[in-house]
Amino acid sequence: AKQQYHEFVIQEAAVTRLCNSRKIMTVNGQFPGPALEVNEGDCLAVKVTNKGQYNVTVHWHGVRQMRTGWSDGPEFVTQCPIRPGESYTYRFTVAGQEGTLWWHAHSSWLRATVHGALIIRPRAKVPYPFNNGKPPAREIPIILGEWWDMNPIDVVRTATRTGAAPNISDAITVNGQPGDLYKCSSKDTTTFQVKSGETNLLRFTNAALNTELFVSLAGHTMTVVGADASYTKPYATSVLMIAPGQTTDVLVTFDQPAGRYYLAARAYASAQGVPFDNTTTTAIFDYGATTAGSSPAMPTLPAYNDTTTATAFTTSLRGLRKAELPSHIDENLFFTVGVGLFNCSGGDQRCGGPNNTRFTASINNVSFVLPTTVSILQAHYHAATPAVFTADFPANPPVQFDYTAQNVSRALWQPVPGTKLYKLKYGAVVQVVLQGTNIFAAENHPIHIHGYDFYILAEGFGNFDAATDTTKFNLDDPPMRNTVGVPVNGWAVIRFVADNPGVWLMHCHLDVHITWGLAMAFLVEDGVGVLQSLEAPPPDLPLC
Ligand code: C2O
Repeated sequence: AKQQYHEFVIQEAAVTRLCNSRKIMTVNGQFPGPALEVNEGDCLAVKVTNKGQYNVTVHWHGVRQMRTGWSDGPEFVTQCPIRPGESYTYRFTVAGQEGTLWWHAHSSWLRATVHGALIIRPRAKVPYPFNNGKPPAREIPIILGEWWDMNPIDVVRTATRTGAAPNISDAITVNGQPGDLYKCSSKDTTTFQVKSGETNLLRFTNAALNTELFVSLAGHTMTVVGADASYTKPYATSVLMIAPGQTTDVLVTFDQPAGRYYLAARAYASAQGVPFDNTTTTAIFDYGATTAGSSPAMPTLPAYNDTTTATAFTTSLRGLRKAELPSHIDENLFFTVGVGLFNCSGGDQRCGGPNNTRFTASINNVSFVLPTTVSILQAHYHAATPAVFTADFPANPPVQFDYTAQNVSRALWQPVPGTKLYKLKYGAVVQVVLQGTNIFAAENHPIHIHGYDFYILAEGFGNFDAATDTTKFNLDDPPMRNTVGVPVNGWAVIRFVADNPGVWLMHCHLDVHITWGLAMAFLVEDGVGVLQSLEAPPPDLPLC
């Protein structure tokens, strides 16, 4: 295993998209930011220097951060933000994970442009579990994103001030480029040169803030071999559904007549009647033949509301190997996840939602609030008083009803703001039923947990029924991920062992929903001895 050192300078750079020039926040002036390439077992130090105008942190999405929670990155959860002019060095080991992860800013909506890939290859001499064990001929990192004609920070600030829903994005992008179906964008199209007969590994990340995406490549079958840096049984498909936060690794053999083929991505928008960016991004796979002039072949993408295809894709993924699952459960949690409306009182300036309300979101009716004076992890480590959090997050929702029915009385469900954590003993076997709700609108929620990978045992529609749905659990080869799409008007069940002490955020990876409070955090206590305990905070940890 190697030691790697990198420097990330957060700085503004001018870019033009859709005929609109703006200054965006970047890492080292690059958009998307630099891809980090590591081998499993490598130890990284990344010095982040903030030369921008906003507070910032960087999160290494999906990296387990065993005992190194100080390097996880969510603002006010594991650290205070890095202020303009200051630096912080993240130090962590990438162990036990292979495939694709990514990194992104974890402050406000800066991750719209501050993100990049984290490519994890097997250690030297360790074979790949596909392609006859050999590295693929070529690897192509593909980051899907969203572009706003406005500064995304202003988009979210306006939404927070008014209580209304934020603007939708103006384009979907492939490696920062909208592609030639958009105005002024014929030059802003990503082209990948490929070689006839070769098999390449495409490493997809969905870095979009608020849009789940269907992805398809004209004329070619994609064979999924990994997701969220865990290998899967090979699964051949013509369409992928990737939610924000998720990654998907696919093998493609370029076995079609020489020519140019569009890769296209467009929203999977599960919520009915909620505005979304319905535009289509394209990139071109080019065999290098002399076909200039003819337009590339276009794939067929599912309709935006095709939940059947979206769910068929995600539930077809299986772990490559047999799961190592303990046979008992120590903590059996039932969490409702959803968006609602807060009834405003007279004179409230933030009532721009429907019928004198503002948007809110919650887990078990608690709408998560970040502290502002210290990070939760620091407060926990130093047992700070007054405490900035309480460890009384409810294991169950306060009232039970038909979560997936429409028009449930909102009086039943007025979210309570709070900084509440759920405490777990070191080593506890945790099962969480994630139940989607339909208080305002039902929607697929990509739920992400920091510091852990988890097995997805089952997904389904309607209200989870413990009597019958537990029989559907896949305890044999469930996929292991860090982000699960809880199906619209449905549920997902995940399981993990709480073997990583610290404070770990769990949230919907649609940034608009985090903004509204669709988050909570686990407080995992230390185990016995130093190897089961959180490390001491680094000396350069930013203070508030
Ligand atoms: Cu990729 Cu808390 O996020």
